[in-house]
Amino acid sequence: MLNKNALRALMRERKQQFTQQQLGELSATVVSHMREYLMLMDNIVAYYSLPDEVCTHQLLDELLAAGKNVYLPKVVSDTEMVLCRYTGRDSLQKGAFGIMEPTGPVMPKEKYNDIKVVLVPGVAFDKENRRLGRGKGYYDRFLSSFSQPRCAVFYGVCFDFQRVDAIPADEHDVCMDGLIS
Ligand SMILES: Nc1ncnc2c1ncn2[C@@H]1O[C@H](COP(=O)(O)OP(=O)(O)O)[C@@H](O)[C@H]1O
Ligand SMILES: [Mg+2]
Repeated sequence: MLNKNALRALMRERKQQFTQQQLGELSATVVSHMREYLMLMDNIVAYYSLPDEVCTHQLLDELLAAGKNVYLPKVVSDTEMVLCRYTGRDSLQKGAFGIMEPTGPVMPKEKYNDIKVVLVPGVAFDKENRRLGRGKGYYDRFLSSFSQPRCAVFYGVCFDFQRVDAIPADEHDVCMDGLIS
């Protein structure tokens, strides 16, 4: 089994086989697999994609237009991310790692119980729904802060080529409940 860093390198290589336009087309397919499901949810945690991730930009605006409460992560320290309400692209600001983040008030932890679904980006996912991130563990810490038993389901969102047989998971790695690709 490849170690985490070797898997990250392999995924970089795989992504480089695609142009930005091709990734955009593949993204549209992935989004088409979750749109209807998300339209049944009211409180949704999503991510504002970077160029090498499944593009969520249009989806976020569709969810907003449909009256959904959409929340995006905001990095507030070397270890922690919090959630802020997404109110449209105009209110986003570039944050840590070049990720666009909302600027509104932070969602209190007590409110996490209202969240029904969390869309989680990743570098790779395996057959047991294990997730590999970029190596800083932000999502592991964030997702483990949901109280048990939790109401929210965690979905890893990825391109098909990001699915691998096995990821060497550590004790702290938080598994997804399912994958959308
Ligand atoms: N719940 C946690 N508490 C403390 N440290 C954590 C936690 N989750 C992850 N980490 C730390 O974050 C670092 C990166 O985690 P890793 O799983 O390799 O990255 P990623 O999930 O981004 O692929 C590790 O050194 C790990 O110790
Ligand atoms: Mg991890």
